Amino acid sequence: MIHQDNYNSLYAESILVEQLICARNRGLLLIEQIIKSELVKPGSQTRTIQKAIHELIAQVLCPPGKKPRFWHKQILRVGEDTINPYSVKITNNVIKSGDIAFFDLGIALCMDVDSSVHVEVDLGRTIIVPGTNIDPDKLRICNDCERLFLEGKAYYLQNRDMTGKELYEYMQYQAEQNGWKLSSQPHSGHLIGLFPHEKILGDTKFDYICPENIRPMSAPDNFGNHRHWILETHLVHPKNLFGAFYEDLLSL
Ligand SMILES: [Fe+2]
Ligand SMILES: [Fe+2]
Repeated sequence: MIHQDNYNSLYAESILVEQLICARNRGLLLIEQIIKSELVKPGSQTRTIQKAIHELIAQVLCPPGKKPRFWHKQILRVGEDTINPYSVKITNNVIKSGDIAFFDLGIALCMDVDSSVHVEVDLGRTIIVPGTNIDPDKLRICNDCERLFLEGKAYYLQNRDMTGKELYEYMQYQAEQNGWKLSSQPHSGHLIGLFPHEKILGDTKFDYICPENIRPMSAPDNFGNHRHWILETHLVHPKNLFGAFYEDLLSL
């Protein structure tokens, strides 16, 4: 575990960015494996798939003999459960063909340079379970979720000094312009860094992309270092009970 005294070190400054990107890319390989292994298939239960994902995380991302560490609970939501924010308990559903489903994986990855340091990965993706007569709105919300994420990221990159409130409101506006709503999740993203960033850096409204955050996102942390951000796009259908989720690095 890295101590607060060490956080503002050359190590953190020079390597953290590289490690956050590297850890995220390893997380993407995991998602590729989950999709390739066709775990999410008609007839399977959410709970069973979650256990299988846990095993896959150990196989794909952990050194032999090491158990995976997580910085938030692993989420797989399917069907009506896809409208629910992070805080709502996951429902155990039986997957049906044509269902919409999303993952939200929050992993603390041990990096090679220093085995005592864990770097946070936070990735979310939505998939449509193969089937016939798939609701076109499910396909549209799935595609829009990724597109609006990318548009939000482009908007942020043009003005890194914007406040968390400005970016949240932009995401809300874009969701509504495209015929969706943002979910009841109280924010559209948060800080990411060395695990556990909430303990190292604190955990206040200024660490979230939320309406209450009126500070520039470019403001440094308490140690004077750059802060790194995650953007979450969680869209829900305005009338029907389904949604889509996309989450990835914002500032890198
Ligand atoms: Fe997140
Ligand atoms: Fe997440």
